[in-house]
Amino acid sequence: MTTIARGADIERLPDNMPQFILLHKQVAPYVAHIQLNRPDKLNALNLELMLEIKDALIELDADDSVRAIVISGNDKAFAAGADIKQMAGRTAVDMLKIDQFKTWDSIRKTRKPLIAAVSGYTFGGGCELAMICDIIIASETAQFGQPEINIGIMPGAGGTQRLTRIVGKSKAMEMVLGGQFMPAEEALRHGLVSRVVPIEHYLSEAVKLASLIAEKSPIAVQMAKESVLKSYEMSLQEALYFERKNFYMLFATEDQKEGMTAFVEKRKADFKGQ
Ligand code: CAA
Repeated sequence: MTTIARGADIERLPDNMPQFILLHKQVAPYVAHIQLNRPDKLNALNLELMLEIKDALIELDADDSVRAIVISGNDKAFAAGADIKQMAGRTAVDMLKIDQFKTWDSIRKTRKPLIAAVSGYTFGGGCELAMICDIIIASETAQFGQPEINIGIMPGAGGTQRLTRIVGKSKAMEMVLGGQFMPAEEALRHGLVSRVVPIEHYLSEAVKLASLIAEKSPIAVQMAKESVLKSYEMSLQEALYFERKNFYMLFATEDQKEGMTAFVEKRKADFKGQ
């Protein structure tokens, strides 16, 4: 890992130097920040940018000095979707061969909590990337949408599935079939985001929340994240058993002993992730 001149806390990944993201490894204790950095294209998600996010997340997931990860764009755009210019000339066979969503599958498997700090355009793949994250904090200017229908396609990175599960069928159909946008306050009412804050604060609020999570036992956080996500994938009965096994397993950790002992001793727990 080498630190580059643009800022003491900005680090490059080894081997492949990222061009389209900035990685701030300790934006707060135990908190990393990935910033999408293609501002002149409203952070349009080309294949290279997505690979850089994937590689960064694999590295951060394996790094014990990181317990929570914030993903942001900039004030104007979280991301205006997949890169249309990159896709425009492709055939179905090209798309199958490239299989760009393999990259997204890897991102989805990140075990550490992902918090999206979202502002401005959050469209298409941008909305889908935000929904892959575990929590979305939005600025009051954030706008969500799946406007792929306007360019003769449809969402392909989970938009028809995750959006529908969150906002319900009728609203999802409006957005996916009509290409309509959803402003931040409405997204809050529908549970798409957990908080809407003034634009000056959306990133700091996301980092603050990540810091709060980073104070907890990272093993318990990981197991809890995994269990919540199972509610999307399993029947209630199966998911309840899954949750129970994770719950019992946490009693094998030192963090469980530390957490409960600290409670009894009326002090703050110091979780080591063991
Ligand atoms: N792909 C490639 N380039 C994009 C882009 C995208 N999705 N969105 C914006 N850009 C580029 C523009 O081409 C423009 O670049 P140039 O200056 O080189 O022409 C630059 O970003 C600024 O964009 P605009 O001039 O269009 O900015 P605006 O403020 O007038 O409009 C916008 C903003 C309404 C978001 C408009 O850019 C827009 O509609 N973008 C496309 C949104 C979209 O359709 N997203 C879905 C993509 S498909 C997808 O995501 C599939 C999937 O499920 C994975």
